[in-house]
Amino acid sequence: MFITIEGIDGSGKSTQTRILEETIKDIAGCDCTLVTREPGGWEGGQALRDLIIKEHFLHSWTEALLFVADRCEHVTRVILPALHQNKIVLCERYNESTIAYQVWGRGLPEDEVRRLIKTTGLPEPDITFWLDVDVEKALERISKRGEPDRIESDRELLERISEGYRSLWKKEPDRIRRIDAKGTMDE
Ligand code: TMP
Repeated sequence: MFITIEGIDGSGKSTQTRILEETIKDIAGCDCTLVTREPGGWEGGQALRDLIIKEHFLHSWTEALLFVADRCEHVTRVILPALHQNKIVLCERYNESTIAYQVWGRGLPEDEVRRLIKTTGLPEPDITFWLDVDVEKALERISKRGEPDRIESDRELLERISEGYRSLWKKEPDRIRRIDAKGTMDE
């Protein structure tokens, strides 16, 4: 099973992914999960992650192409082999991030980004958990954990990305499940 966890920066993805992993292990009583993330969740991917997150790109498509290129390697090297071993894959960020951030955030045309994603032929998640939190709360959490990175620091950008996630959820409410993420870790 392929599960992705999505949401704006500061929505609690890493924490909730860890809790979900522990819960699955408890219920299933086995070591049958693989936790990974994008960008950079493959051997060699950290260099690409550092580049994408820190660099300011001049061409409007550079960022999107790099995120998708990272995904191609990540899926081929890490996600598909784990799925073939019947593992439950928990992946922080995937295609929905590219649509929410690069389309709604950066303004790339949605149909062309969707076409690019389709061209890669990568698998669609069985289920996506969208951690929905308001930007104010997310920024409060981000500031507590230190310096925000390039993408995290722009409030209006995060508002647009949030709207993007909402629109994705409305289009596919069965596959994309909204989780109210403004509460405490346990809530
Ligand atoms: P992370 O810090 O949540 O791991 O994600 C790194 C940043 O990359 C985050 O600000 C979201 C951004 N991102 C995109 O803009 N598009 C994408 O397709 C992905 C996977 C991440």
